[in-house]
Amino acid sequence: MLDLMPNILMVASEAAPYVKTGGLADVLGSLPAALARCGEKVSVVIPKFRSVRPVGAERVWDHLPVNVGPNSFSAAIDRHRHNGVDFYFVDIPYLFDRDGIYGHLGSDYPDNHIRFGALSMAAIGIARNIVRPDIIHCHDWQAALVPVYLHSYYQADPRVSNVKTIFTIHNLGYQGRFSGDAPRILRELGLGAGVFHVDGLEFYGDVNLLKGAINYSDWLTTVSKGYAREIKTMEYGFGLEGLLQKRSSRLTGIVNGVDYSDWNPQTDPLIAANYSEANLTGKQVCRLDLLREFGLPEKLADRPIVGIVSRFASQKGFDLLAEIAPELLQSDISLIALGTGEPEYEAIFRQLAADLPWQVRVKVIYDNVLAHKIESGSDIFLMPSRYEPCGLNQIYSLRYGTPPVVRATGGLDDTIEEATGFKFQDYSGAALLEAIHRALKAWEDQPKWQERMRRGMKKDFSWNVSATEYATLYRQLLRG
Ligand code: ADP
Ligand code: GLC
Repeated sequence: MLDLMPNILMVASEAAPYVKTGGLADVLGSLPAALARCGEKVSVVIPKFRSVRPVGAERVWDHLPVNVGPNSFSAAIDRHRHNGVDFYFVDIPYLFDRDGIYGHLGSDYPDNHIRFGALSMAAIGIARNIVRPDIIHCHDWQAALVPVYLHSYYQADPRVSNVKTIFTIHNLGYQGRFSGDAPRILRELGLGAGVFHVDGLEFYGDVNLLKGAINYSDWLTTVSKGYAREIKTMEYGFGLEGLLQKRSSRLTGIVNGVDYSDWNPQTDPLIAANYSEANLTGKQVCRLDLLREFGLPEKLADRPIVGIVSRFASQKGFDLLAEIAPELLQSDISLIALGTGEPEYEAIFRQLAADLPWQVRVKVIYDNVLAHKIESGSDIFLMPSRYEPCGLNQIYSLRYGTPPVVRATGGLDDTIEEATGFKFQDYSGAALLEAIHRALKAWEDQPKWQERMRRGMKKDFSWNVSATEYATLYRQLLRG
């Protein structure tokens, strides 16, 4: 019987440590490993982008035909075993060996539908020829065509016709929506009128890959219970709320876990000094190191350091920060930010740093070491998100004794309590400012502040519970 040991194949565009632009990669780097530790059989498929260079990978397939509409590619498939999980890399240099992951110099690649159509077709090829899974678990729009192609092409193929599909929505704000010439896009994807209708991929005349996955997957999940509720509302549904309401009996919220072997101040090799809730002295060393790293004088260590690590995108709420900055920065604080993303938000931070260089420091780069240094060296972590499906940085900051100020939305609301952080409800500058002032006031009472730090550090958001929820879901799905 299948239900003893389902074979799971995950498909996504990113997985740490191979390629990462955000939390999706953290999840694909840690959830499969957690499932493997529970005895599950899991493999993962991602593209072999230029930066993906796994040492010791073996070539397991030389020429896997990947047909996407009129285009025929030949994929080489490499395999690398990491933390008990087989990672398969789809090597199609023409599509993936490029300067960027999703685009370059601020624009998306115009053939992203073909690139990720090819990823999806290659994943099905790996399923048919190599892995023979019971379930294909797809993540985000880049893997959304897997259920669509299975529905369109493979219903009669005995190697995959019984495969169940799960689709996890990590962020409804990114749908893989291709507008303009829908007939051309469909043709280039090898899809036709059979799926281009309101119960398929059609979305206001455009081709919407995420919508296709929502319609053709056997089950849907998203990355917190709060977000699972929110996406059924107009405020958070990005136009798909009606469909998600319709499918809500097959939509489960499972909060992300984190990997404490990467994010733990007691053992972290990337920070200036290790510390734990039993001995916080190393945290002071990390604070001084952070000030130095960002070019601020050590004498500023007597005031609170507010830290930010984020994609700079409208989702993350930094327009509120811009609104309150003049008033906020009248307080004696230092603000240290790390992020990259949309030019508009990069400009907000650059301007703040230019106006107040003795108080605000910003690095507009992607740098994992600095991300760890900010988590450990800050006193308060800022995440004023407009929406947040789960969010991982607030969970990391709890573990590093850096109470977060968060907007009470999605996963932020689910993972942060008043005892461990500071929440605000309204998406407004005034509400954010009030929450930060509350945090700054609390910081002045250091003995109580340290109690708050310790409460956060003791919280356990490891994958133990959530991985079990996925394992249970896999079995329920196979039992029908
Ligand atoms: P999202 O996936 O929406 O970007 P998450 O909070 O789930 O948000 O995850 C973000 C992940 O990306 C974290 O691991 C964070 O440390 C990392 N990250 C974001 N921006 C940077 C950056 N500029 N440099 C290094 N790491 C970053
Ligand atoms: C998305 C979301 C983020 C979530 C991450 C991993 O990028 O924006 O909230 O933590 O995916 O699921």
